[in-house]
Parts: sequence; structure tokens; C-alpha cells
Amino acid sequence: MKQDKVIFFDTTLRDGEQCPGASMNLRQKLEVARQLEKLGVDVIEAGFPVASEGDFESVSTIARTVKKCRVAGLARCTEKDIRKAAAAVAPAGDRARIHVFLATSPLHREFKLKMSKKEVVAAAVAGVKLAKSLVDDVEFSAEDASRTELDFLAQVVEAVIDAGATTVNLPDTVGFTTPGEYAAMIAYMKKHVRNIGKCILSVHCHNDIGLAVANTLSAVQAGARQVEGTINGIGERAGNVALEEVAMALTTRPEALGFKKGDKPHNLDTREIVRTSRVVSRMSGMVVQRSKAIVGENAFAHSSGIHQHGILAKRETYEVIDPADVGWGVTELPLTKHSGRAAVKARLERLGHTLSEEELTHLFERFKKVGDSKKFVYDDDLASLVNDSLDTHNSVWKMCQIQFLAGSATCPTATVTLERDGKKFTDSAIGNGPVNACFKAIDRITRSKGDLVEFNVHATSCGQDALGEVTVKVKFTGKADQRPISGKGAATDIIEAASRAYLNALNRHLALSKAQA
Ligand code: KIV
Ligand code: ZN
Repeated sequence: MKQDKVIFFDTTLRDGEQCPGASMNLRQKLEVARQLEKLGVDVIEAGFPVASEGDFESVSTIARTVKKCRVAGLARCTEKDIRKAAAAVAPAGDRARIHVFLATSPLHREFKLKMSKKEVVAAAVAGVKLAKSLVDDVEFSAEDASRTELDFLAQVVEAVIDAGATTVNLPDTVGFTTPGEYAAMIAYMKKHVRNIGKCILSVHCHNDIGLAVANTLSAVQAGARQVEGTINGIGERAGNVALEEVAMALTTRPEALGFKKGDKPHNLDTREIVRTSRVVSRMSGMVVQRSKAIVGENAFAHSSGIHQHGILAKRETYEVIDPADVGWGVTELPLTKHSGRAAVKARLERLGHTLSEEELTHLFERFKKVGDSKKFVYDDDLASLVNDSLDTHNSVWKMCQIQFLAGSATCPTATVTLERDGKKFTDSAIGNGPVNACFKAIDRITRSKGDLVEFNVHATSCGQDALGEVTVKVKFTGKADQRPISGKGAATDIIEAASRAYLNALNRHLALSKAQA
């Protein structure tokens, strides 16, 4: 199958969401999917439909909403998984993809699957055949391919292509391979698999030893034409390959990576990269490291005098990418409390958020309150209110009011009022600080118990009246799995922001418990 451009397969909503603390609700996943579509990814892997009713609903809603990208649902090689995935991606019509996977490495065969080589080939072929009877576009992944015997891997690849797979993915599941080794694996498949021309070879790299981007690019040089990864590199353990880094490597150095100078080897609109990174960070609660390539706040900040002088004389002296090409520096006049609903809506759309009228009403109320307490509402302020509003709008518990008393000679005390189903509940607690007192008061009202495992605060804009944005990770005791749940909250007062973040995490926990029940 001839494919000149590299297909971008985004798995932020599946592999990325497996990252501890990154779980998103349906509304948040939809925001991410819409922005991925604006970025121009070719395939969105929207989830693992058999995993839960919530996953199924997310995949089918995304399949219904997204109009340009292919939508994939993951499935193990079992009839139940494959039929569930087919039903979930069906609303995408001829853009529906089923992604079946089965491990092939000796370790997985012996200890996880307890299957012989022959059984693995048979199960893979049966899975692909069933998927092919339900959709045209079938991808097969040989999990842990990079630790699989090359001759056996080639046998599996050939068999699944004969069974109907049009994309074959060879993941480095545990982030173990090296660029030379991974490229050699691709070259081996191209040389030894009889029908290799009938499929697109795909790669999927994890970052356990920090080689995910290098491995992905070396596989592309060797002929792989689909890359799988996530925005901001979120994912289990050390994460997946960061797609924005792969995209900008291909854009900046096409000739070094096997393409013609001046070619654009992908379909992405790179000016949407920073916006996409922000949307993913806000929706997933995963903070982007300041020095992260391409999308970190410091990625284009030059502090030394020599660099600043060079940049002023000629940008290319110290910059290999024009920041505007990835969407940095597109700042507009800040909004104020006098800005109207239409202006707020238009600005939100430019920031990558599509809100329903009801959601907008809720956000606009908060915008007005924030506008009363600070002169200018910057884009980052506004974007940080989005998650808060989306979540609050759909959540069980809503924040009404908090009051606290703290100081060096006072016992920190907080009184919190929350609303549930239109009824208000108030309670007070003391704590070792005002934040702790607020969290305890929330626990008392909601009859929950959360252990704070991470707390971060940062100002969304400059100046003393900046909005404080708090991100927390909390472990709640309950039925849902015991992974920490992240929450975000924003307010001009950081204690209020912290309480909103804690409540946001609690509401996510309740939604997750409901989905798993
Ligand atoms: O890392 C991996 O092997 C995967 C597969 C399910 C594609 O995520
Ligand atoms: Zn993976």
C-alpha cells in the first residue's frame, strides 16, 4: 500500500487516559476529540469499548461527533471485545476502525497468555477475520512486538494481512527498544513478509528509557507510515511518544528523515499544536512540564543575554522552529467584565472549546464573577474556567460558598456550602491549614474520605490579581479503582481554587464509581 505521508494516529483518549490521574469524563473527552480534529490527526483512538459502559459511550459519541478523522476502538482478540468495538465505532460509518491486539513476545506468550506460537497466530487471524466482517478498516497490533522473535513476528504479520488487516502496528510496549534495533525490525518485515505491500506499517512507542521520539523517527525512516502517540506524551508509566514532537521533527527536518526538502510529510495543521496541548492538559489534569519540547512554557523562552541578542538580530540563530508555526504567541486583547456573552463564546471557540448554550451560561456567570475581581480576563484565565464549568455543570456536587479563618495564632477553620440536586448542605471543619480545613468540610458534607497525594498551584496570568489554578491528585476510598484522581479548580483566591479542585476530583471519582458499578 503506497503511502507518502505519515498517518498520525492519536491515542490520547485511550493509552493516554490510562495514565494515573488522567481519567476524563465524556464531556472532557469530546473537547479533546474536537480539538484533535482541528489539529488534523488522521485517526482518533477514542477508547476501549468493552472496558466499561462509560468507555463504550465515549467511543460511540466521538464516532458520532467527529466528521473528518477515522475513529478507532480497541479490542482484544475475543468475540465479545470485537463486537463491542464494532458497535461503538459504527456511527463513524466508513471512517470506523477496529483495532485488535494480541501479545506476541515469548514473555507474554508464556506468562500472560499461556499460549503457544501456533495458538497466537490462530487467535490473531480469527480476531482480524471477525473484525473484517464488521468493518473495512482493521488494524492489528502485535503487543510487545519489539521483544518478539523477528521470524515469528513476520509470520504473525503475514497471517493477519492475509486475514484482512490493512494496518499492522508493531508496538514497543514497554519502551525497551533502541532506534537502530527498531528500524531493523521494520526493515526485516519489509524484506521477509510476502504481502507487506498490502498494509501500512505502524509504530507505537512508550518512553520508559526516554527513546520514544527517536525510536518512532527511526522506524519512519525505515518505512513505517503510521505513528501512534499522545498529545503531551501522556500515558502509562513514562508515557507514550509525544505526537507534537514527532510532528515538528518531521516538519523541521523532512530531508533528514527520508522525505524531500520542503515536503510536509503529514496532514496536521501545526498551528493548532499549542492549543491542543492546552486542551489536553486542562481536560486530563496532567500539567505540562515547563521545559517540555514544543509545548512547554519555556520552549521558546530565551533568558541569556547572548541568546536574546542573537534572536533579535536573526531569529534562526537560536530558534529552529518559528513559535508561531506551532501556535505560540497568538495573543489577543484580554476580555473584561464588560465583555458580552458573544465575545466570550467567540474567544472560547478560538481557544478550541465548543460549549453548549447551557454550559456557556454557567461559564459566563463565573466569567462575570472573575471579571469583578480582576481588571483583565486573559485567555489562560478563561481557558482555566472551562474545565471547572464543564465539570461543575455535569457534576453531582456543586460549590456554592466557602468561608475560612486562618492565621498564625488561629486554629484554621472552614465552612463550606455545597449543592446537590438543588438542595444546599453546609458543614464546618478545622484543619492544619485553611486548605485542609476546606477539604475536611467537603468530606464531611459528601461523606467521603480523600487523601491528597499531589498539590500544585500556578498563576494563569501575570499580576497580583492573577487567577490561581490548582491541580490536585486525590485517592478516595470507595468502589472505584484506587488510582489517584486529578482535579482542577481556578479562582482569584487560591483557597477557593484548591477547594474547587478537590471537589472536581471528588465528582470525577463519583462519576468513575458510577461507570464501574
Ligand atoms: O503499548 C501497546 O502495546 C498498546 C497496544 C494495545 C497497541 O497500547
Ligand atoms: Zn501503548
